[in-house]
Amino acid sequence: MQDQPILVIGSTGKTGQRIAKTLAELGFSVRHGSRNAAIPFDWDRPETWAAALDGVSSAYVSYFPDLAFPGASETIEALTKVAAGAGVRRLVLLSGRGETHAQNCENIVKACGLDYSLVRASWFAQNFSEGYLRDPVLQGMVALPAAHVSEPFVDVDDIAGVAVAALTDERHSGQLYEVTGPRLLSFDEAAAALSTAIGRPVRYIPITFDQFHASMTEIGGSLIADVFTCVCREVLDGRNESLGDGVQRALGREPRDFADFCRAAAASGAWSEAA
Ligand SMILES: NC(=O)c1ccc[n+]([C@@H]2O[C@H](COP(=O)([O-])OP(=O)(O)OC[C@H]3O[C@@H](n4cnc5c(N)ncnc54)[C@H](OP(=O)(O)O)[C@@H]3O)[C@@H](O)[C@H]2O)c1
Repeated sequence: MQDQPILVIGSTGKTGQRIAKTLAELGFSVRHGSRNAAIPFDWDRPETWAAALDGVSSAYVSYFPDLAFPGASETIEALTKVAAGAGVRRLVLLSGRGETHAQNCENIVKACGLDYSLVRASWFAQNFSEGYLRDPVLQGMVALPAAHVSEPFVDVDDIAGVAVAALTDERHSGQLYEVTGPRLLSFDEAAAALSTAIGRPVRYIPITFDQFHASMTEIGGSLIADVFTCVCREVLDGRNESLGDGVQRALGREPRDFADFCRAAAASGAWSEAA
């Protein structure tokens, strides 16, 4: 077991918190990458990066808010340079499946000279339980510009499992893992699985990209609306209607099915109003 800490950037987020917890349970020393950590890490304050990366063996990189935001690729490139200067040996980048900007960032990490693994994820199942779709699920109506496209929703626990393997075992070096669930579901089918697990009706409402943009503008302003509408136009055009084998290749087991995720999340109280 190595003594050097592993940095988890985004350690309070959906993927990072699971990764940090699992690494600690396995006995690894974890450095939390958060604006509120003992050694703070802030994407908007590059002067925080060197201290956060100092002395770490490997680092998990989940970018906030999204690799499609303007300036993200320059920021990732700058981070790789600070990581190399700090003596970090390996970077594990969380990327998005079918997203042009995310794949530009993958290429930057591949070319940076450090060991790397790329974890290219499909839609998180936990978007419905921990992310921005939780409130709509509670209200019984999930409106998205997904028409009748299918998506292989991936459980964030599986993403975390792959990232932990990549951070701790050099056999994963140089690998690109496309992590998806084991099954394609339409958003209608996803809503039906959520309904069954929660015991209340949840409907999927197909909307236009313009309607999505307008609702995102209300929630987060025009930049957020522009970027996420652009991402949705890419990933919901049918390009991701296939299964990846990243969980199987990295962990030697099948990924968790969306219906199992729904049952477990409901049992843990994910959709009780106060969660
Ligand atoms: N959702 C999906 O379906 C999906 C699919 C594929 C890829 N992705 C990618 O997943 C990534 C997000 O990962 P996630 O869902 O695990 O995270 P998340 O749940 O969105 O959590 C956000 C994390 O970002 C941190 N953060 C926010 N502002 C920050 C800043 N200025 N500097 C440093 N850290 C900051 C927060 O930490 P503190 O507040 O503690 O600082 C928190 O740990 C994005 O890059 C997205 O593109 C998402």
